[in-house]
Amino acid sequence: MSENSLDELSFDDFDEVVSPRPEETEFDRIVAAAISRRAFLGGVVAFGSVATVGSGLIPGKVEAGMDRFGFVPIDANTLNTVTVPEGFNSSVLLQWGDPILPGAPEFDEESRGEGSSQALTFGDNTDGMDFFIRENVNLLVVNNEYTNRGVIWGNRPEGKFANDDDVLKGMRAHGVSVVEIKETDGNWEVVADSPYNRRITPETLMEITGPARGSDLLKTTAEPTGTESLGTWNNCGNGMTPWGTYLTCEENFNGYFSSDNQDLEVSPEFKRYGISTSDWGYGWATIDERFDIEKHPNEPNRAGYVVEIDPFDPLSKPRKLTALGRFKHENAEVVINSDGKVVVYMGDDERGEFIYRFISDGYYAATGDNSELLEKGTLAVAKFFEDGTGQWLDLTPETTGFASKAEICVNTRIAASVVGATTMDRPEWVTSNPNAAEVYCALTNNKNRGIKPNAGGDPTPVGGPNPREANLYGQIVRWRPKGYDHTAPGFEWDLYVLAGNPAIHTDNRRGSANVDAGNMFNSPDGIKFDTKGLLWIQTDGNYSNEGDFAGQGNNQMLVGDTATGEIRRFLVGPQKCEVTGMTWSSDRRTMFVGIQHPNEGWPNGGNSVARSAIVAVKRDDGDILA
Ligand code: FEO
Ligand code: CA
Ligand code: CA
Ligand code: CA
Repeated sequence: MSENSLDELSFDDFDEVVSPRPEETEFDRIVAAAISRRAFLGGVVAFGSVATVGSGLIPGKVEAGMDRFGFVPIDANTLNTVTVPEGFNSSVLLQWGDPILPGAPEFDEESRGEGSSQALTFGDNTDGMDFFIRENVNLLVVNNEYTNRGVIWGNRPEGKFANDDDVLKGMRAHGVSVVEIKETDGNWEVVADSPYNRRITPETLMEITGPARGSDLLKTTAEPTGTESLGTWNNCGNGMTPWGTYLTCEENFNGYFSSDNQDLEVSPEFKRYGISTSDWGYGWATIDERFDIEKHPNEPNRAGYVVEIDPFDPLSKPRKLTALGRFKHENAEVVINSDGKVVVYMGDDERGEFIYRFISDGYYAATGDNSELLEKGTLAVAKFFEDGTGQWLDLTPETTGFASKAEICVNTRIAASVVGATTMDRPEWVTSNPNAAEVYCALTNNKNRGIKPNAGGDPTPVGGPNPREANLYGQIVRWRPKGYDHTAPGFEWDLYVLAGNPAIHTDNRRGSANVDAGNMFNSPDGIKFDTKGLLWIQTDGNYSNEGDFAGQGNNQMLVGDTATGEIRRFLVGPQKCEVTGMTWSSDRRTMFVGIQHPNEGWPNGGNSVARSAIVAVKRDDGDILA
């Protein structure tokens, strides 16, 4: 395909093509002002002590004899397989197109399935997931973020859809899969006839909850009440509530809308979210006109939310949580504060977008009804200062000038720009330390840092938690709420790691002191704490193993000790993949890891069709893993 073909672009590059960033008005002045700061920070990083950017939490060395990891780190590699440390093994549990509902056919390598089979089988591009257990029933609830067009339509000319059913198949490869699994003699298997198994797709009826429920902005001719919508898609990271529900996060929801009328005037609100007359190559508007933004201009306002699902009730109606704001949601990290308030931390993954916090009005009660806690509360956005402190800025009609909470919950990015939030280097997953009032967010990379404003025209100066121009490698920021109180307006922050390549760079691209030629990586994305308080880090970056990325190999998963700063490589994924999504069995003896968009031949060998899949990782001795 030609280099400029829209369907060959990644989601973030696509957004820049269809919604070009604003002209750089006074941006040159802002960049010039940032240069003095950059010189300062560059110097600090070059000496390998990024901790001084913040409150100095990272000791430079691991204390002798301390080993909380329980494995010997592995080298980077470019093999077309999953590599784990000695004493561990991995096996494929579930792959795209595997039957999960009654009547589903086995995967057909030739046709790669139809619309009808995809509705009954595991979706594509496994992403965020969690493990639920109740009365000995184990459920794996998994996001199917998007689909690999060149693979699902690899049987068509140029890998493009050839008819309506091809489009429908692609649509149904999206959403969420609920799958019962059981372990027999140490092997996990899908329970094929489980009554809990479920596919949730862009066709599933949803309830709209929260401040934007019933808002004029959400009403369409097909659904004039603004209280129900059809479907969820581009489900990236996830969250889990203590009351047993699953949170799935709608990320690049914009890339599915289009219009035949290429001259259509696109509103500033749509531009901020990358909604345009061109879709990402899926053709959904060709089979369902609600994806045509000229015919149904409010339909895009009904996507871009966190959705709550009760996995143990297969008939339950998923609920869109407008109170948690509308943006390109990465994941949703739920923390119960010491006073019982529910706090949800969330990243908006686009260059120069923001980190958010939701605080419930109500209080969590272990034995009470918690079903409406995520419907009412206060949304705030993070501002980071150079001195290592930060502030949550509430998004209310008073602070934003917006007419209502409903409007803030629909055009959240614009409200956050009004209050002056800090533009970040693509906030991916957020996770909180189970042993401390401390929260981490992966900032994956940002080639526009210090170069271009964000989609709303906000400057992206170099500095604070985004200390490198044209950030190639990414970093992980962490913050500690004042007084250990997750509802406090203030916090202190520093960087846990600044990724880089110390084998070829000596300036700030070498990374922080806890990065060396043995554990280096780029583009941290999925992050999650285990019960021991170790931080698991998955990457979605450049796997060329060349140039700036020489020696870093395929995408991978690492483990960090946040007390010492040490980071070790635990797993290397197959070629071309992204490693994303992780959870553990309730006995902590199995770790489930997602492999997205792998290369041909994985996981089934030879020239078999590439199929994204979940792998189960165990210790050979069956002992507790994490
Ligand atoms: Fe779906 Fe930002 O990753
Ligand atoms: Ca991600
Ligand atoms: Ca990513
Ligand atoms: Ca992905």
